Amino acid sequence: MTVSTADDPIKLAEFEARLERGETIEPKDWMPEKYRKQLIRMMSQHAHSEIVGMLPEGNWITRAPSLRRKMVLLAKVQDEGGHGLYIYCGTETLGIDREELVEQLLTGKAKYSSIFNYPTLTWADIGVIGWLVDGAAIVNQTMLAKTSYGPYARAMIRICKEENFHKRQGYEICTVMAKGTPAQRAMVQDAVNRWWWPSLMMFGPSDGTSPNSAELLRWRVKRETNDALRQRFVNLTIPQAQAIGLTVPDPDLRYNAETENWEFGAIDWAEFQAVISGNGPCNRERMAARRKAHDDGAWVREAAEAHAAKQAARSREHAA
Ligand SMILES: [Fe+2]
Ligand SMILES: [Fe+2]
Repeated sequence: MTVSTADDPIKLAEFEARLERGETIEPKDWMPEKYRKQLIRMMSQHAHSEIVGMLPEGNWITRAPSLRRKMVLLAKVQDEGGHGLYIYCGTETLGIDREELVEQLLTGKAKYSSIFNYPTLTWADIGVIGWLVDGAAIVNQTMLAKTSYGPYARAMIRICKEENFHKRQGYEICTVMAKGTPAQRAMVQDAVNRWWWPSLMMFGPSDGTSPNSAELLRWRVKRETNDALRQRFVNLTIPQAQAIGLTVPDPDLRYNAETENWEFGAIDWAEFQAVISGNGPCNRERMAARRKAHDDGAWVREAAEAHAAKQAARSREHAA
């Protein structure tokens, strides 16, 4: 990999011309240091989100209401772990070690999606997470499947296929509950009420205030703005809510026939800031769970290292 600290203007112009032609950037290609840094930040944040995202749903595996639901939820949570590992591998192609990435998560230096700092209080939350949270992830990741960095784009194509399954299983849970008893209907509506606004926050700050947006767009790391993606998500989701007789907790929501957009009320960015700076309802619990998992896994890492050393010694013996 070729990276430079002070970017050579000729190389930079070549790089930008490649992007202009719609080429993808591959690990061994020259790239501006800032591009590499932005991608490491974004991809590792994404990988961390997949791993931390296993926790709120994992909370319900033992309490799923039927064997079928339990199997589906187990498969989904396992998929998320796979997504995390896949994206960590992709991030390593940028010349950073996974150990360092994990360290950044555990010390709080790296962030993960704000959404996973909310609690899963009832079974309906599992349906609503699949429908709204995985639904929002799909909107974002479909855009990222066209990102300019090859390994990330390819990871997204594969991951999006599984996210579609996640969204469908969630929406199916919501559909069944929405057609169920009054208590089930109330439970799923309550879950939508709690998850709606945090789901909209998943797309990140408004474009005007997003610190990284302009550069990410220029280098085609992102292909659309946070606000455009958020609007697409709302436009996709409101008809789905209506189809099963659920509402979203927004008195300002209205359809604009001219723009064909569902216009929505103001997002509470103070809440978003509080959650990403560590003061959401479950931040401490999530990080404690990750640290414990990391500590509990120490023996596995040690065993893997010992095994690798033994294999290396053996192949040296054979070579001699
Ligand atoms: Fe995922
Ligand atoms: Fe997912």
